[in-house]
Amino acid sequence: MARQRRSQASSGADGKGNKDKGANSSSSNGSNPPKPIKSTGGILSYWKHFIGFSCFAIAVGVGYMGYLETRVNTPYDEKKMVVRSGLDIPERFWGSYRPGVYFGLKTRDPYSLITGLMWYFPKELKPGGDGIRHWCEQGDGLEKYGWLQHDGSSFGVQEIHDGPFVITTSFVKRLGGTHGGDWTARITVDIKPGRKVPEDRKEVSLIWYSVLDDNSNGYIKPSNTGSFLTGVRGETPGLGEFTIKLFNYTGTVEHESYLSTITPGLHLLKETIISSMRLAEIKPSRVRSVVLAGELLPATGATKAQPNFIATQVGSKVPFTLDVVFESGSFGTRQNTLVGDVYSEALTWHQSRFVQRFEDTFHLKTKGYGAKEINFAQAALSNMIGGIGYFYGTSRVQSAYTKEPVPYWRAALYTAVPSRSFFPRGFLWDEGFHGLLISAWDLDIELDIICHWFDLMNVEGWIPREQILGAEALAKVPEEFVTQRNTNANPPTFFLTLDYILHKYKDQLTNGRLITLERLYPRLQAWFSWFNTTQKGLEPGTYRWRGRDPLTNRELNPKTLTSGLDDYPRASHPTENERHVDLRCWIAIASGTLANLATLLGRNSYKYYQTHSYLTDNNLMDALHWSDYAQRYADYGYHTDAVELQRPKLSPRSQTPQNLEMVRVMKKNPEYRLVDSTYGYVSLFPFLLRLLEPDSPKLNKTLTDIRMPTLLWTKYGLRSLSKNSPLYMKRNTEHDPPYWRGQIWININFLAVLALNYYSVTEGPYQEHAKEVYKELRANIINNVMKQYYETGYIWEQYNDRTGKGSGCRPFTGWSALTVLLMSEHY
Ligand SMILES: *[C@@H]1O[C@H](CO)[C@@H](O)[C@H](O)[C@H]1NC(C)=O
Ligand SMILES: *[C@@H]1O[C@H](CO)[C@@H](O)[C@H](O)[C@H]1NC(C)=O
Ligand SMILES: *[C@@H]1O[C@H](CO)[C@@H](O)[C@H](O)[C@H]1NC(C)=O
Repeated sequence: MARQRRSQASSGADGKGNKDKGANSSSSNGSNPPKPIKSTGGILSYWKHFIGFSCFAIAVGVGYMGYLETRVNTPYDEKKMVVRSGLDIPERFWGSYRPGVYFGLKTRDPYSLITGLMWYFPKELKPGGDGIRHWCEQGDGLEKYGWLQHDGSSFGVQEIHDGPFVITTSFVKRLGGTHGGDWTARITVDIKPGRKVPEDRKEVSLIWYSVLDDNSNGYIKPSNTGSFLTGVRGETPGLGEFTIKLFNYTGTVEHESYLSTITPGLHLLKETIISSMRLAEIKPSRVRSVVLAGELLPATGATKAQPNFIATQVGSKVPFTLDVVFESGSFGTRQNTLVGDVYSEALTWHQSRFVQRFEDTFHLKTKGYGAKEINFAQAALSNMIGGIGYFYGTSRVQSAYTKEPVPYWRAALYTAVPSRSFFPRGFLWDEGFHGLLISAWDLDIELDIICHWFDLMNVEGWIPREQILGAEALAKVPEEFVTQRNTNANPPTFFLTLDYILHKYKDQLTNGRLITLERLYPRLQAWFSWFNTTQKGLEPGTYRWRGRDPLTNRELNPKTLTSGLDDYPRASHPTENERHVDLRCWIAIASGTLANLATLLGRNSYKYYQTHSYLTDNNLMDALHWSDYAQRYADYGYHTDAVELQRPKLSPRSQTPQNLEMVRVMKKNPEYRLVDSTYGYVSLFPFLLRLLEPDSPKLNKTLTDIRMPTLLWTKYGLRSLSKNSPLYMKRNTEHDPPYWRGQIWININFLAVLALNYYSVTEGPYQEHAKEVYKELRANIINNVMKQYYETGYIWEQYNDRTGKGSGCRPFTGWSALTVLLMSEHY
């Protein structure tokens, strides 16, 4: 899927052309001399007799343009949101904060000791290192992987199915001392029940590595104390002194080797391992095996360079269990080491505590669900929680005033991710949905996540929507998609999270949590204000997503990546007169949430209530967006339905290559109108975000329409675009398959279920009707997401509207995991 990814490719249009681009005075190549700025013109003419006037003019020009230029990467000037980080919160210091790898632990520290697992089956190892597992890659073709249990702070259990093998990875933390305590990770490799593997194919090689970021002060060294397997000892400012020891808990070690070297970067760990692999004869069996090369360190004068990367490879036969024991030097005296049976017991204890907490939170057993359903729900929650990462680095951003992209400030981000394989990084619009489930599980984790995101706000009130921080994250994103533009919005879904928190956990918002909300409030105001001004439309009370390309002739309907709904059809010809009904609804609920928060905090809420009641006035909304003709809400813009993609015809003698790309042709000219032949998610927003009055006949109409199989209704949830919409399941270019043009998406379905629940419990003439549809839709979504999980091993990005099958990327345990909240009706 190319969500947000393609955004930058096509968003070159916004911000250009309407602003004076030539005025980038600090660019080094000098090809664009600074143009005088209007406001300084008077001063210039007055001073023109004086020697040195040109210096002065340039100084003013540079000063002013410099100011505009630096706004994009100047932090918002208020108290920082994150006031406790790193070791201030010892229980969240260590964690599985690397969602992009199958298994690894690091700390919530800008420069951390990073540990992780790679594995391969020697018989499957291909030249070039193909077959070594490390990063979560769809191309590895694993039948299934993901957390079965994870509580976000003290332990986790994951299962990975690789061919006939099942690999279980778990970790347990033990707090103590002043540096975040101890942990143990366990890796068990076994054969799947019912699968037969020939004796000579039962070999497995596990590689456990430790790496120090370039910027960490401290050292790591190979160490052989305590176990015959090579471990590590080291020291960093954050961790103090520590050791890592490896033990074979069950099964015998056939061969062991290690690597101690300098890796050029965190994104090249696998490459570093591969380049150190050697073939060696193992005594006494004399079998030839692939081993690691030992010390590979350049000599620097008399002394050897310090390694920053140490890996131990353990070769053995399945079944096999490896325990990796991290012990903090500051721990003091331990009763015992967290290894072997002691570890097993600790893990069992955590697991039963998890099961209890899960039931206390979601009440699935009480609601009558069986083991199969509960296991699914636990896995869904655990993948959301276990997918939380900690990233550190600089985004690349661009404004109309910077000629080239410029670095954002160095920042940390603690965030969940949409997909460990395909999107292992923070996404603004996803995160507000994630926040619903995360706050239900652990309110403090969610508030911590919110704090990190709002520290990424710049002085304009803008938050970049895709966060690519650090070498590992960057390595997963093609270069041309990295830059974020400050003209571009994304749905402000954090207002959904906050609304949920205010509504559901109001009585828990005391002390530190209240203080956090106090600090958040001015930033939310700035964020709101950014949306309310930069995204507004030409007419009062209208709003418009930026970033659509008005010039393209390649796209059937120019994408609106900023809306989060990518290729969902809008007006065929983007113009400034457009108005987008979904954005208007987002701003309406944002103002309402802000008003409620202001009231809670004893601030003046008047302005937000006023904007809220203005934007929720159904008459005004109808005047701008209701189509009497089609009886539905719609965008407004310069539009024609009569478009199609065609291959350009060539004259017979043309010299041009034959494979010219398809272009859009129009059969009818566009006109200003409501885009009301299209029916789908966007049409539903006044209903989805509960802006429709409960007694509005339009609610009745909506309830009737979404239940129609010819429009949006399927046995698996609501499809994104009705079957009779002109662009239903149409490709946007010959290279872009449909994405939000029919497929079923769980985040929007979740909003629909919430809305149906709301209208079924809110006094009004359509309560019963809403209740019926609520029950059916909720059941359909839960049943299908769960069915597909058991059939395919994964929760998916989207689901096919004809078959219910998962599509897009996997695992996708971001908002698709909201199914847990639907099961528990926890809203
Ligand atoms: C670990 O492996 C070694 C070497 O093969 C073996 O001697 C030892 O018995 C194994 N330990 C356990 C607990 O199986
Ligand atoms: C939002 O913008 C409109 C003008 O477009 C303004 O009238 C309104 O006061 C603004 N709302 C807030 C809360 O600033
Ligand atoms: C709601 O719409 C349905 C179908 O159009 C109609 O039969 C019904 O009478 C309406 N209900 C009310 C209360 O108006």
